[in-house]
This record gives sequence, structure tokens and C-alpha cells, in this order.
Amino acid sequence: MAKKWNVSTVKAAKGKEKLVMVTAYDALFAKLFAPYVDMLLVGDSLNMIFAGRPDTLSATMEQMLYHTQAVCAGAPDSFVIFDMPYGSYTSKETALANALRVYKETAADCVKLEGGSEKAEIIHHLVQNGIAVMGHIGLKPQSVRAEGGYKVVRQIDGLLEDAKALENAGVFAMVLEGTQSDIAKEVCQAVSVPVIGIGAGKDVDGQVLVWSDMLGFFEDFKPKFVKRYMDGASLVKEAMERYAREVKEGIFPDKDHSY
Ligand code: KIV
Repeated sequence: MAKKWNVSTVKAAKGKEKLVMVTAYDALFAKLFAPYVDMLLVGDSLNMIFAGRPDTLSATMEQMLYHTQAVCAGAPDSFVIFDMPYGSYTSKETALANALRVYKETAADCVKLEGGSEKAEIIHHLVQNGIAVMGHIGLKPQSVRAEGGYKVVRQIDGLLEDAKALENAGVFAMVLEGTQSDIAKEVCQAVSVPVIGIGAGKDVDGQVLVWSDMLGFFEDFKPKFVKRYMDGASLVKEAMERYAREVKEGIFPDKDHSY
């Protein structure tokens, strides 16, 4: 059966239907999320959430391929996005070689990469070679060290040019991260492809959140744009506390849970 969402249906959703996207890093959660969302993003945020690293910069192709294979296995009917890790698209040749690996070694539908006008030529090269590309502009987590932190974009300067450059390069959609809502609205209106926001307000074509943020598993801090739909950390702690107590007190396993 053909997937409900593909590059064409995602593109055609602009102005008609809000797109729902969430990150997924493994088969178990991908399967749980799949029925409710339009797209699953194997984001390089997994380097922080899953691997416990301080930022996304040390994520590797191998790591991203491994997690993408798991997500595709768990949600075979879902539209899956492969996030190109830092350093994997520094030139047209490197980008194409790595993107070809994505299509050959996983069932991902497209790749996503961070950058504006400066990446347009690379994106165009990928598109010309049959790779579907989702852009990512605004706050770019892979630039955290170069920028000296995660900075919300509060000025339109350069952003419209970036969005237009990506559109002209052939992206079918783009993520717009950490951008003041009124500016995000302008960007969204200026391009013909869907703009998926994260921390970019409501006047965009869809939303993406990191799963562990929205389900309340990540407790260290909560950015303003994150809405917690569940208190995952408390639920896990309560369950673990109960399990540990029941084992210590000889309550578990009881007859119902023994052969
Ligand atoms: O890696 C990721 O999770 C992302 C989202 C923040 C859009 O790129």
C-alpha cells in the first residue's frame, strides 16, 4: 500500500491542512506515534536525547542511519525524514554521497539539512540527483557553537532570502525553528512550500516537536515553545519506585506473574 504522505502530498498540504511532525529515534516509539502524526523526523537531536551528548554536533552518519532504520522498521507506512548530521553536507559531493547512503540503506523518504542561501547550491545538487530535501532555517542547532548559543531569530533580515533560496533550490518543505511568530508568518506567506515550525508560532503550515519534550520525559529545562502533553518523567519515576519497592518487599512477582 502506498504511504499516505509523500513529498507530493506534503507539498500539496500547504494552505489546506496543518502538518503534524514529531521526532522518533526507535522502532517502539515510532510505532506508537505513527497513527497520529503525518511525518516522523529522525532528528539529530537524538545525539542529545538518546546519546546524552551536550549538542548535536557529534552525531554521525552511522548513528543516524542506525536510528532511521529502526524508525522505518517500526513505522513502515510513515513518511520518515533523515536529519543530515553536522559535517555530512559540507560540499555537493559529500552531501550527495551521504544522501545516497540514506536512500540505499534506509527507507527514509527525504533528508533534512540546516542552512539558508549558503546551502542552496548543495540542495539543488541533491534535488537534481533525485533526493527529496527538507530545509531547516531560523535557529539552526548545528550552528550553536558558531553562534555562541541557541538564539531566537527576531529579525527578518536574511530570513526571507534564505527561505526563497531554499524554495528555488527545490526543497519540498522547510523547518523554521526558534523564530518570532510575526516573522515566521511572513516567511510562511512568502514561499509556496510548507513551513513547519518549532518555536515559530501558529501562523505556519505545521508543527514539529521533540518527542521527549512534548511527553515530559526531558526535565532539565523547558523552552517556552514546548507544551508538555504528558508528564512522562513523573510517570516513569512512580512506576520504577513501585517496581523497586515491590521487589524489595517480595510483593512482585506474585502468583499471577509466575509460571
Ligand atoms: O533534530 C531535531 O530534532 C530537529 C528538530 C528540532 C526540528 O531538527
